Amino acid sequence: MEYKTITPKGAIRGEIIPPGDKSISHRAIIFSALADGKSTIENFLESEDCLSTVEAFKAMGVSIEKKQKYLCIDGVGLNGLCRPKDDLFVGNSGTTMRLLSGILAAQSFDSTLDGDESLRNRPMDRIVEPLRKMGAVISGNRDRHHAPLHIHGTQLKGIRFEEKRGSAQVKSCVLLAGLYADKETIVHEIKPSRDHTERMLSLFNARFVKKGELSTIKKTESLKSQRIHVPGDISSAAFFIVAALLLKGSELKIINVGLNPSRIGVLKVLREMGAAITITDIHGTHEPYGTITVKGSELHGIKINQAMIPAIIDELPIIMVAAACAKGETVIKGAEELRVKETDRLKSMCSGLKQLGSDVHETKDGAIIQGGKRFKGNVTLDSCNDHRTAMSLAIAGLHAEQEIAISNPDSVSISYPDFFNTINNLTQ
Ligand code: S3P
Repeated sequence: MEYKTITPKGAIRGEIIPPGDKSISHRAIIFSALADGKSTIENFLESEDCLSTVEAFKAMGVSIEKKQKYLCIDGVGLNGLCRPKDDLFVGNSGTTMRLLSGILAAQSFDSTLDGDESLRNRPMDRIVEPLRKMGAVISGNRDRHHAPLHIHGTQLKGIRFEEKRGSAQVKSCVLLAGLYADKETIVHEIKPSRDHTERMLSLFNARFVKKGELSTIKKTESLKSQRIHVPGDISSAAFFIVAALLLKGSELKIINVGLNPSRIGVLKVLREMGAAITITDIHGTHEPYGTITVKGSELHGIKINQAMIPAIIDELPIIMVAAACAKGETVIKGAEELRVKETDRLKSMCSGLKQLGSDVHETKDGAIIQGGKRFKGNVTLDSCNDHRTAMSLAIAGLHAEQEIAISNPDSVSISYPDFFNTINNLTQ
């Protein structure tokens, strides 16, 4: 097994440009592939997860090429995908598997979606069940709800679906299937989650309307090709936001970072904890982006309840690191979704923080963290081969008393291939 050593650091100062947003990059490929004609994507995230989406569409006959700083996609139209010769292997990428299922269920060919061991263990009933209600013919492993998913393409029909979990992947899967379904498909979003799919449906001219909690998609004949700029990923920026907050005397500017209102929950939570964060230079119409400036701050504990979870779902591991350094108690509730991510992130984070000497109690749906202690060093932490656990624990290591080591550091290439280089550049 490989390990990465992290050496404690003092203040960090300077500027970073985070890599392109993972969620938007996936969707940019999907919509461009299904549009009529050529689309270009600027600042596409070339990470393992997003490349899984690229490879899946290439396997279905879509030409995707990199030209200088752009990814150029020759869209084949909504009905132009070809039957893949082999199973579509999407590695670790839940977003690819769940979003593509909605599209594949409506094709005129059969396909199989498969993934790595982690993805094979993640629940797919959340997408398989609504898709079956739409008429999809899908079989899976074990209880028919795990990958590999065998999908028999067929004509779908519209449904009304209540999305209660706050999952953007589930919502997006049903909306994408709705592009092909007879009559209309209505998604009633009980807990709002990231809205990148909805924004792209409008941008690409789908027959889509959103009114309050209701999103309506009608069978669409064609999507119009686009030029897309992908802003930097706020979920990746969050690691360095917390690093700058914890390391006294730091001042860090993060440029070109996505500020979609459904994604900035992490900024709200950290500000409530006492973080000095300012936002400037906001631009962009399709997806807003701007500059975030962070200064080292004294943080205090807060209560994080269920209603806040969908907006911070990917940032909770790094928020837990911040909470372990903050004065007083932080209570996280309603975060059981973290248990079904690439690994059980409640477990991986609580056990990593405990090894670092923090006072952490793991609960069924969250954690209770008594913060304020400096992290101990001289420990080897298990990333559980999960990118966000690895990066969160690495940031904790910058604020430890001695060096730490992290297992399977290469897992960061799922969403932030340059993560360790960015740490080195900032802390030299
Ligand atoms: C994502 C949605 C979230 C998030 C994941 C990306 C997306 O998952 O955790 O990293 O791009 O739609 P859920 O929909 O399972 O909450």
